Amino acid sequence: MVYKNVGFKVFFFIGKGGVGKTTCAAAFAVKVARYKRTLIISLDPAHNLGDVLGVELSEKPTRVVDNLFAVEVDFESMIRSHLENLVDKVKGMYRYLRVLNLDSYIDVLRYSPGIEEYATLDKITEVLKWNISRGEYEVIVFDTPPTGLTLRIMALPSISSIWVDKLMKLRIQILDRRRIIEKITGEKIKTIIGGRVFEAPSKPEDDPVYNELVRIKSDINLVNSIVKNPATTTTVIVVNPETLPIVEAKRALNFLGKLGIPVKYIIVNKVLSVTQIPENLKPKIEEQERALRMINEYFTNLKVVKIPFLCEEPKGLSKLQNISIHMDKILAEVEG
Ligand SMILES: Nc1ncnc2c1ncn2[C@@H]1O[C@H](COP(=O)(O)OP(=O)(O)O)[C@@H](O)[C@H]1O
Ligand SMILES: [Mg+2]
Repeated sequence: MVYKNVGFKVFFFIGKGGVGKTTCAAAFAVKVARYKRTLIISLDPAHNLGDVLGVELSEKPTRVVDNLFAVEVDFESMIRSHLENLVDKVKGMYRYLRVLNLDSYIDVLRYSPGIEEYATLDKITEVLKWNISRGEYEVIVFDTPPTGLTLRIMALPSISSIWVDKLMKLRIQILDRRRIIEKITGEKIKTIIGGRVFEAPSKPEDDPVYNELVRIKSDINLVNSIVKNPATTTTVIVVNPETLPIVEAKRALNFLGKLGIPVKYIIVNKVLSVTQIPENLKPKIEEQERALRMINEYFTNLKVVKIPFLCEEPKGLSKLQNISIHMDKILAEVEG
């Protein structure tokens, strides 16, 4: 894998629903923004980044403080534009398909499996490409949906890479055969649809389908080269000191390892710390002790960051500091 040095840092905060991904991502972004121009993007269809930051957010970057901008992706419009884009491309590539009313399929395609994942990956790609060309932000933080959806999104570049390679090979074979037929007949292959004549391209450089596959492949390579590059991307798993989020995080870590996406930090959020343990809290504290031992055992290669359970809900810029004061370890990634 050839890593691309993009000149900015990327952070993903992942984990089970409710563990505190958005809170941790937001607290981290607020702190980083003191040193670096930062963008935080919520990719969770159930947004609460705006609530956590205490600022109303939209599709367009909103300034939160001096150097911090935030976005809540509008899922419906993102999926719609992903599908419209797709239909436009198909119409461009297979001009004879214009006789079908492809637009009428968009409403149905909206509910086809995998569409959220592809549209989200499109969005991530768009943001990364945009920042490569504009150099607007020094740090981009992605606040992600709960684990399952995030893993499926993160798997897409690797999965897509396999089928795009296959499709490219197939397309080259088709074009080779077209050229053989052209040699024999001495003319281009033609299709007549609705009284109109369409000439089939036979060289890869003239073929819109092949060119589109080349473009998809280059986007996939770009995303892979960014998310798999530990010098650019830091993935942080967030858990609570409870069994279920930890077991889920372990599975996520194994899966990401298979994809070649490195994870460096585990945040244990909402750690209860009490000097005198009330009787009724004892089982909870014991459970927490067991969970912390599990974390040490399961995640030997990760740096552990503990954040206490706060009695006041960490919402708004000043309260988020009570979270970010524990994140200096992760901050080193931006300075390094
Ligand atoms: N350290 C903490 N102490 C107390 N409450 C917390 C802490 N971290 C997060 N919370 C609360 O937990 C809830 C879920 O947090 P959130 O960041 O939305 O989780 P996620 O994004 O993982 O679904 C929110 O009400 C948030 O304010
Ligand atoms: Mg969240």
